[in-house]
Amino acid sequence: MLESKKVILGVCGSIAAYKSATLVRLLVKAGAQVQVVMTPDATNFITPLTLSTLSKRPVYSEYFKSETGEWNNHVELGLWGDLMIIAPASANTMAKMAGGLVDNLLTAVYLSAKCPVYFAPAMDLDMWKHEATQENISKIQSFQNILIPPGSGELASGLHGEGRMAEPEEIIAFVEADIKQKLPLVNHKVLVTAGPTYEAIDPVRFIGNHSSGKMGFAIADELAALGADVTLIAGPTAQQSKQRSIKRIDVTSAADMLRECLANFANADGCIMCAAVADYTPAVVAEQKIKKQDGGLTIELKKTTDILKTLGQQKREGQVLVGFALETNNEEEYAIAKLKNKNLDMIVLNSLNDTGAGFKGDTNKITMIDKALNKTTFALKNKNEVAKDICAKFIQLLKS
Ligand code: C5P
Repeated sequence: MLESKKVILGVCGSIAAYKSATLVRLLVKAGAQVQVVMTPDATNFITPLTLSTLSKRPVYSEYFKSETGEWNNHVELGLWGDLMIIAPASANTMAKMAGGLVDNLLTAVYLSAKCPVYFAPAMDLDMWKHEATQENISKIQSFQNILIPPGSGELASGLHGEGRMAEPEEIIAFVEADIKQKLPLVNHKVLVTAGPTYEAIDPVRFIGNHSSGKMGFAIADELAALGADVTLIAGPTAQQSKQRSIKRIDVTSAADMLRECLANFANADGCIMCAAVADYTPAVVAEQKIKKQDGGLTIELKKTTDILKTLGQQKREGQVLVGFALETNNEEEYAIAKLKNKNLDMIVLNSLNDTGAGFKGDTNKITMIDKALNKTTFALKNKNEVAKDICAKFIQLLKS
């Protein structure tokens, strides 16, 4: 959930700031980019050098760098973050957050941030219980900021009670669970196919195609980032998924891909078939390497099973099936014929006539046609951006 996320970590003056080092480490390990912003008081509890070393970025605690006079732009910092975590959140800072008081960089960043803000209070039990603190917390929550509740136990004062900052592991688990449950595809299983297939001629040769797998991998990553439980069935490709939650099944031939698709389709809420599956495969695979001879060589090919069509025949109520069409002529006419013939909910058309579209590159230019024949044409974009467009439409179809 935190992979590639930009996290602003606000650290206040509290003894719990000693746990910020672990929190930064865990965020970085989870794949986040962490920008630490400290209150001046927090720097008495833990050194900026520690947090800067762990976050691999400079740590900010002042409006400007005293040596150079350079300004730390709080608006830019606030807008940079995908999320902000204030941990430890002291009673003092929470009071400022509740009242909109800005007297340091951290509160200025907080007020400028447009992203979700989590706060993990830390204080002694009587400060925590105080009506003023509780009122401030209710007020902050009414601004849609999210409370990470403190735990109970031994406090720095030696007293026992509520007010201990949640442990760094608990903070991470809380934030991840919160992000996840708000994602549009949470609790949805989606099957994606990607890459080429290789059809063996003999033990050393095969018939393949130029598919790089980039489009399918970008779609799988985007679906997983949107909370889906993704199974990615991939033909031979050097691509790697960015999202660690993706379950990847490697296959070689069209027959392997068919087998894995059939095994996983019934369980899925939807399927996006991006793979360039071979339409023909050698009728017989030679057991030994075929020897070079004078004259030509004829290899008899037989048709493979159309996986997408097979899934279309098995599709049940509510399942969403998306196919791709790569065409060179009469693009739309052929794409619509496939949409109908394979019982799809949508077809994504890319034409080899468009420069930058199709197989190998990092860009694609698509037209999406749904089964009501609504047509949307997009500009040439990076495949990650194209994946976003496809997934947005996929969500619409799934929820319609
Ligand atoms: O009919 P055509 O091969 O052009 O259709 C392309 C679409 O069908 C793609 O979504 C591709 O993944 C799928 N396909 C398939 N099984 C095949 C051939 C294509 O699932 N044997």
